[in-house]
Parts: sequence; structure tokens; C-alpha cells
Amino acid sequence: MKGNDIRESYLSFFENKKDHLRLKSFSLIPKDDPSLLLIGAGMAPLKPFFTGKVEPPRHRITTSQKCIRTGDIGNVGYTARHHTFFEMLGNFSFGDYFKKEAISWAWEFLTEVIKLDSSRLYVTIYPDDKEAYDYWHTMIGLPENHIYPLADNFWEIGEGPCGPDSEIFFDQGEEFGTDPENQMGGDGDRFLEIWNLVFSQYDRQKDGSYLPLAKKNIDTGAGLERLAAVLQHKKNNFETDLFFPIIEEASTLSGVSYGKSAQGDVALKVISDHARAITNMIADGILPSNEGRGYVLRRILRRAVRFGKLLGIQDPFMGHMIDVVIDMMKPAYPELLDKQAYIKKVAGMEEERFQTTLNAGIDLLSEMIEDTQKHNEKNISGERVFKLYDTYGFPWELTQEIAAEKGLSVDKAGFEAAMAEQKERARAARAKVSAKVATPDTTKLDISSLSTIDEDGTTKLLLVGKDGKELASAADGTEITAILLNTPFHAEGGGQIGDTGIITGAEGSIIVENTKKLPDGITYIIGEVKEGIIRAGEEVNVVVDRDRREKLARNHTGTHMLQAALRRVLGDQVNQAGSLVLPDRLRFDFTWPEALSAKQIREVEDIVNAEIIKNTSVSINEMPIDEAKNLGAMALFGEKYGDIVRVVSVGEFSKELCGGTHVSNTGELGSFRIIGESGIGSGVRRIEAVTGWAAYEMMQEDRKLINSAADALKSNSTGILERIEKLQAELKDAEHELSALKKNKVQDELKELIQNAEVKNGVSILGAVVHVDNINELREAADFVKAKLPVSAVILGTAVGDKVNLVGMASPDAVKAGIHMGKVISQAAKICGGGGGGKPANAQAGGKDVSKLADAVAQGVKIISGMLD
Ligand code: ALA
Repeated sequence: MKGNDIRESYLSFFENKKDHLRLKSFSLIPKDDPSLLLIGAGMAPLKPFFTGKVEPPRHRITTSQKCIRTGDIGNVGYTARHHTFFEMLGNFSFGDYFKKEAISWAWEFLTEVIKLDSSRLYVTIYPDDKEAYDYWHTMIGLPENHIYPLADNFWEIGEGPCGPDSEIFFDQGEEFGTDPENQMGGDGDRFLEIWNLVFSQYDRQKDGSYLPLAKKNIDTGAGLERLAAVLQHKKNNFETDLFFPIIEEASTLSGVSYGKSAQGDVALKVISDHARAITNMIADGILPSNEGRGYVLRRILRRAVRFGKLLGIQDPFMGHMIDVVIDMMKPAYPELLDKQAYIKKVAGMEEERFQTTLNAGIDLLSEMIEDTQKHNEKNISGERVFKLYDTYGFPWELTQEIAAEKGLSVDKAGFEAAMAEQKERARAARAKVSAKVATPDTTKLDISSLSTIDEDGTTKLLLVGKDGKELASAADGTEITAILLNTPFHAEGGGQIGDTGIITGAEGSIIVENTKKLPDGITYIIGEVKEGIIRAGEEVNVVVDRDRREKLARNHTGTHMLQAALRRVLGDQVNQAGSLVLPDRLRFDFTWPEALSAKQIREVEDIVNAEIIKNTSVSINEMPIDEAKNLGAMALFGEKYGDIVRVVSVGEFSKELCGGTHVSNTGELGSFRIIGESGIGSGVRRIEAVTGWAAYEMMQEDRKLINSAADALKSNSTGILERIEKLQAELKDAEHELSALKKNKVQDELKELIQNAEVKNGVSILGAVVHVDNINELREAADFVKAKLPVSAVILGTAVGDKVNLVGMASPDAVKAGIHMGKVISQAAKICGGGGGGKPANAQAGGKDVSKLADAVAQGVKIISGMLD
């Protein structure tokens, strides 16, 4: 049975025979689950259904879930069934059926649908779980010696649902071994765990404690790759049709066949496993980076590339592997086809980046290994390994693996210390930058009495402070922070910078330079006292710089529209990586592997401007996060279930969670224009754009530039291009003419020298400084002489800028007579501070000292003459 058929028969069994809702695999990136980096089990994306936080669409669900587990990555390739990427088949009950059905359906599927021999099936149970024992023994009729109680039969992953489990094993036969390791419960390959049934009845808390779940659930997981190995009678998962085509492709590329050497097999297996992981991780929007998921991907990719190198593959090869993976997986995951080019591009870029550093890194690592061995040590210094990581992007795990191959280990503590030190340096640097005027203690303020308001007007100056201390008053020139009772100033956040304006009291005013928020949500301003004195507690008049605020609003709405347009043009893989909303422009950083083409930039601008012209209304609504997500709002910063969020909608065009200020209608933007697109680090692009008056002014600037260019070209604006083309053609003609004239002049000069050339032993000797523009013309000049003097030795020199060029040529007869121009030129060049050489008949050199050019040529002539003595 093929892998794709096994997956399908599992899902359709639970869908059609057992009334489950079949869902597509969830993304490998966990949603709203900070306890997980990547999805590592079928139940992981379903946690909110298990805990009851979210009502599931149906109480019975079945999936084949893409999973990543990298805890054992060092074993991948060396064992029969360790993988980084695998698919977990699962059937789930949320407060619906429980143990009895889970056990009986698993049995039905295994023995009746895929027809495994029941006498080869064994199970383990949690020792206290008498119920499970009874179902297996009495209901199913499994003999007692096929049921093993095991204390570690308890399953959990991060926080959330967990419980005792019962695992089903398949006896692959005595040929796998009969030693103790190959008994049930041992680590051998003979008894293969194929399915885990978890009777999920607890909810693990953040603090590690367990609470009973209100409703009991079922969570099961069957490894697709293992079922394939059993059904295809393969000794290891890699020989199944889920991996083998990738191995074959890698074999073809490297010329290393599978089954020939242990080392070759490991490399082929590693590549086949990692290619599946890489393809699916990138497809789900992960990009290689130095942190979190991105680092996991980088590590896997780099490990694969390194094993490719071990196989002797010289060229980038990941793209070929990805093609095979997608071809195999497309029946179940057709979306991979749409993303094929993107996946290959991301992987290819990382591969190339790593290839170039790999060689340098490996050299350095070999040195470290040698050093360590020379000193009879077993441990490579963590600090040096960190340097390798820091400068060459060498994952430390890779270093460890390479070191282990040489019988060495890596000082992990030292590595971590070096890493921590660097982080601390970075943190200190950041802290220094952000050390601003601190607000005084605000705990005595009654937060509920504070408010933010839309309009300018009068309010009370509640608290004035400097350097964290409260002030009763502050005089002219003092930099202060202040908190208002009602504030119209909008604090910086979500990329938008803080408001500015003026606060006027009875005896002085504050020029507001920035507005920020404290962690408890209180808004405060930073500013300087001007013209007198201000006093805490006094009535003040507050005025926000409205013109600036409007510009910020235009640019903030523009940022949302830009993001929406980018997703339409490039696809949903575009993810925000940062933004900055300023009055005069906006900046948006996003994940994308390559520069945008002029056409793509134009398309993005077209889409945004079309939406501006439509004058779409912009609405702002507060709602629970779940509702916002149902509306399709883009959430970015790990909001939690139950949170109330603010959703900014530009009609149906864009919906984002955002706390910033926005226009009411897109028409207020006037116009939108991209002014820059660039890369700011691996896989992240930056777009800068302008809206409103800034875009208009830029248009005026363009016109001014075009008009000035037209004036300078003595044309009108529509005729500029034609005029430039004409001028260029004229220039080219003039250049040709000039170079012909120069050549003639040089040849005239040479003709005279040719007539007067000294002849020694039948060889004409000629040396001269000529005025040409480059080494090619110099060579042409020498050829000219040679043609006129068939038996000759020629040395010519010229100055190009502040550099000297020398060319030497000798005819065959001159060479026979003893001339070696290579030697002539190399000695002559020394005189003008240069070097070079060549063959007896042909040589050239460069030099630095133009003032010695004539001397060098004269010296050349002398040497030639000497060679003819
Ligand atoms: N969640 C269980 C596992 O991953 C089924 O083994």
C-alpha cells in the first residue's frame, strides 16, 4: 500500500465510517500557543478544542497533521525511524467518545482496513488503567501476554490536555533480533510502535500542575511513515515510498548508490528526511534565521547541505530535492505546487549563503579540531565554537556533530556563556539607547480617572517629573515628563511615532516632543518647558500638532494598505516584520526572499491607489480576538483568546489589529507612492513610501527635474528621450572618430621610429612611450610595429591615469636570436614600481610610478640589446 493511500484510507475510515470531520493539516507554526515552537503532534493545533476554550466545529475530528520534532536531530539518518518531519494520523474526540471506541476503532482499522496480522499486534497500557486492560483483553480478545503495563505511558506536550495512553506495537519478526532489546519494551527495531491512543483527561498548567478536564477526550497519533514501513515490508522508514524517491534523486546527483556504504546511506537518509522538513516548513511561512523556528529551519537546511557535500555534491541541490518532495506530497497537499517556486527560492538562497561560508567554516573547524587534538584535549572550546557560529553561521549542533565524528565534544557551557555575553552586550546597547527621561512613580494616580480624548482643550496637569522624580514645578529649559488628566496626545506604538504639540499653563508652556505609554497603559508626554514656569496640578490648555497627526494617520492607513496590496501581489507568505509610521513617510518591513521587480512595485502602487480613488471608508471596532480572527483580521503579536482587540478595517480590503491613528476614508491619502525597496537582512525586505502632500510634492519635484533636464538638453519634456538617444549616438560617433584619429597619430609616431629603429644581429629593436587609453590599444600598437618589422623586439609603455602599462613583443626569429620579452618586461617594470612578465614572445606588466615610464622603456631597450650580444 502506498503512503498516500494509507493516509487516505485512514482519513476516510474515520470520516465515512466513524462520522468524523476531516480537516486539513494545520500549519507547522502554532497559533496562539507560546508553549510550542512548532507543531509536534496531531493534537497540538487542536488544544483549544480539548480544553473547551473554543467550541470545535464537530466533536469528532480526524487529520493527518504535518509535524516537526528536532529534539533527536542528531539521530536522524542513523536509525530506522527518527525524523525531523513526519505526518501523524489522528482521530480526536472532544467530550464525545472515549476509551472503548478509541480502542475498538483502532483495532478495526488495523486488522480489517489495512489488514495487519492480529497475532503480531501488542499493546502497552498505563499500569493503573484497568479499564484499558479490560477493553483490550475482554472486548478485543487480545491475549494477556500481548498487553504490557508501562509506567511511562502518559502523554503530554507543553501546556494543555494530556493523560494516560495505550500504545500499539507491531512485531516485525524475529529477523529483526531476539535479544532483550528486541523484546516488547526494549529499544530494538523488532517491536515497532505504530499508534498511540491518549485518553486525554487532564489539563497541564503553566506551573506544571494537572487539573482534570471538564470533558474527557481522545487524542490518537499513528505515524504514517511507520505504517508505510510495515505495510511495504521495509526494514526502515527511508525505504518506503515516502522517502525513497528523494534518496534516488540524491543518488543520481551524487553518484553514490544507496546500500553501498554505511556513511553514504546516512547522508542519503539525512537528505531525504531534511528535504521533507525544509519543503514543508518554508511552505508554512518559516524563513531561515538565527532565532526560534527560523533557526530550526536553518539548522536542518545546513545539516542537509553539509551531508550533500559529504556525498560529493558540488552544486546547489536542494531545489531538486524539493521538486521530488512536492511531486510525492502533492496528492494530499496540492497547495505545495503553488508555492513550489517560492520554496525553492528560499531554500536555494540559504543553501548558497551557507555554501560560501561552509568551506571557510570547515577550514576553521578543522584547525580547531587539530588544535584540540594536539593539546590532547577532548573538548573544543565553547568560545571558539561560538565564534564559528557568530561569524560563519555554523549551527553549533553541526559543529558538535562534526566534532563527534572525530571523537571530540564541544564545551556547551562555554558556548552558551559566550552567547549569553553577546546577548547581554546587545541588551546593554539597547538599554543605553532607550534610557530616556523616566516618569516618576505613578502608583498613587487613580488610573480610572485618566482618559484619552479626541479633541484639544483644557485639562489638568496631574504629574510633572524629571529623572524619575516628582516635581512641584519646572522652569524654562527643563526637560520633563508629564501626565495629563485627559490627554489628546496619542502615544507611540505599533510603529507609529508619538504625538507632539503644546501644553500651555498660566505662567509658561511645554513643547511636547513625544508621547509614550507606560506598561500599565498610562499615557505620558516628554517635552521641554518654555517661556516661564509650569506647575503640577494647574489647569492647562493642550493642543496636538494636528497637521502632523493627520500625516501620521495617512501614513498609518497607507501602511495597512501597503501590506494588503503586497499580499495580493506576492501571496500570503508576506508577513510583517516591522514598521515605522512617520509624518513624512512610512516604512514597512516584511518577509520575502528577493527584491521586488519594477513590475511588482508598480502593481502594488496600482492596487493601493485604486483603493484610494475608491475612497473606501476606514472603520475601527473593538471586539474579542476570536471574532476578529473570524473576520480574517491579521493578528501578529500573540494575542490571547479572550483578549479584546481593536480592528482597523479598510473596507474589505484590509483588516488588521492595530492601536494607531487612521484616516476615515482612503481618499484622504490623496496618493501613494513607493520611494524605496531594499533588503535589510536575510529574507526581509523594506519598502518606504509616501502619501498625501509628500507624494504630491514628490510629483512636483519630478516635474521640476524633467523640466530642468529638458532645458539643459534644449528640448521640451516629451522630447527628452529622443534627444538623449540622439546625443548618445552623436557621442558614440565622436568617440569613434577620436579614437581613429588617436590611432593614426600613434601610428604616425611609430612609423618614424620604425624607420630609425636600431638593428642588431638582424633584429630590429624598438622602444617607445605612446599615448593610448588602455592596455588593448597598447597591444595593438605593438602589433602594428611587429607587422612593419617582421624580425623585431618591441617594448611599448603608456600611462593610463596614474598607472603604467608595459607591453613587450618579439617575433619568432627574434626569440630564436635570444630575446625573452617576459624577462625584459619584468625587469623594466621594476623601474616604475611594478611587476609582470610573460612568455619569450609576449609579455605585459603594470607599474605605479608614471614619472619613471620613459626610464623603464629605455631600460627595456638596453636589456633587449644585451640579449643580442
Ligand atoms: N498526541 C499523541 C502522540 O503524539 C497521540 O503520540
